[in-house]
Amino acid sequence: MERKKYAVCGVSSRAIYMYIGPMLRQFQHCAELVAMLDIDPLRFQVCKEQVPEAKDVPEYLAADFDKMMKETRPDALLVVCMDRFHVEYIVRGLGYDVDVISEKPMTTNTEDALKVLAAEEKSKGKVICTFNYRYNPVHTKIKEMIWSGKIGKVTHVDLNWYIDIKHGSSYFHRWNRMRENSGSLSIHKSSHHFDLVNWWVDGIPEYVHAFGALNHYGPDGVFNPSKKDGRHCNECTEKMQCPYKARWATRNSAIFAKDDHINAFEGPKKLFTTYRPDMCMFDSEINIFDTFIANIKYRNGVLLNYSANFSTPYEGYHLAFNGTRGRIETMSFGGVGGEALPDPNPDGVQVIDYFPIFEGRERINVVKREGGHGGGDGVICEDIFLGEDPARKFDILAKSVDGLRAISIGDAVYNSILDGQVKDLTSFMK
Ligand SMILES: NC(=O)c1ccc[n+]([C@@H]2O[C@H](COP(=O)([O-])OP(=O)(O)OC[C@H]3O[C@@H](n4cnc5c(N)ncnc54)[C@H](O)[C@@H]3O)[C@@H](O)[C@H]2O)c1
Repeated sequence: MERKKYAVCGVSSRAIYMYIGPMLRQFQHCAELVAMLDIDPLRFQVCKEQVPEAKDVPEYLAADFDKMMKETRPDALLVVCMDRFHVEYIVRGLGYDVDVISEKPMTTNTEDALKVLAAEEKSKGKVICTFNYRYNPVHTKIKEMIWSGKIGKVTHVDLNWYIDIKHGSSYFHRWNRMRENSGSLSIHKSSHHFDLVNWWVDGIPEYVHAFGALNHYGPDGVFNPSKKDGRHCNECTEKMQCPYKARWATRNSAIFAKDDHINAFEGPKKLFTTYRPDMCMFDSEINIFDTFIANIKYRNGVLLNYSANFSTPYEGYHLAFNGTRGRIETMSFGGVGGEALPDPNPDGVQVIDYFPIFEGRERINVVKREGGHGGGDGVICEDIFLGEDPARKFDILAKSVDGLRAISIGDAVYNSILDGQVKDLTSFMK
């Protein structure tokens, strides 16, 4: 197998554990890492400490993007930096006619997503969006059930997502808390969820309405020990008055709160020079929402009602599909709730219940996979580096149009919360 040459734009935590490590270990026979680029030179050092196999990979600062392209001639870019810069690297990469693999969200707003689609039309390169949640075995099974017609025509989807106090608060400590950096959580996080529904029901979104609020974080958060800007968790004198942190800290201990995609919080060790990942979740600059509900209408008539909460006692979701011939339900619970988790699933294993419209119920146990995001991360990596599995019956590796659809719902959610209007996506939707 010929080795494809990759350059990584953004040596983020995600880049290191999801792409750089696997590329230099499991996928060495088909992938070669020819360059890494970031604005922060410390990131190269952090990466090379965590993945010693990367020690000889050339490093480029962001200003040297063209130099990197000319000197290392990659076949593909992996865009894994802060969300707001994805568009720049995707469009510039397409300008060099190379393929681009973009972490979600492809861009932080609809306008930029349309720029990506326009650039791709002119390029020989193709864009892949890494919607890894599709690869969670439960999610793939649901796709198969709907695709095979088990519940007839899907009429309605009900999806309520809960992000627990640890995971939820992590977004408010970091760059993600600014709309300009992440597009807001309705894009940064919920684009995963919107993409899943779009994919499950084969839906093109057309109308969106939402309500939302900032209830838990920001200066008015109910657990804010005092209204003061500029505190940092690692040396905060109020940490024992902050229940989000006191949950894991003792009076004498350093704060230690890892989540699924940052290990940037490990005591005082500096992992970034451009920003601190322990900014106070109660700062007044926060301009995104932590609670929202949305109604979405698809071109094929499917209706979705969705909610997201970012400060819940446990992590998980409730999901149900109603169709002309039956109903599918599943629930997932995890996170920091410990023994207090509601666990209606036998032995803590997530199951799918299928209710044919006129009789009974079937319970489906899905084989579990190890690894991040319900086992999805490993399988999507295979599709990226080895090429899509030819044995699959339906499309799973997402394209730029899927990025656009998910982002435009999230963007409409944010804007609808601001002005209360129903957002019409029909004029630009593809
Ligand atoms: N698919 C998933 O499940 C999943 C999970 C986690 C993160 N992500 C995505 O991965 C990406 C990285 O997230 P993270 O939390 O690991 O980030 P991080 O905070 O660990 O790192 C962000 C990196 O971007 C770099 N950066 C900032 N501006 C840059 C610029 N102009 N050019 C190049 N690099 C720049 C920073 O220096 C830093 O190294 C984000 O797009 C995020 O949405 C996806």
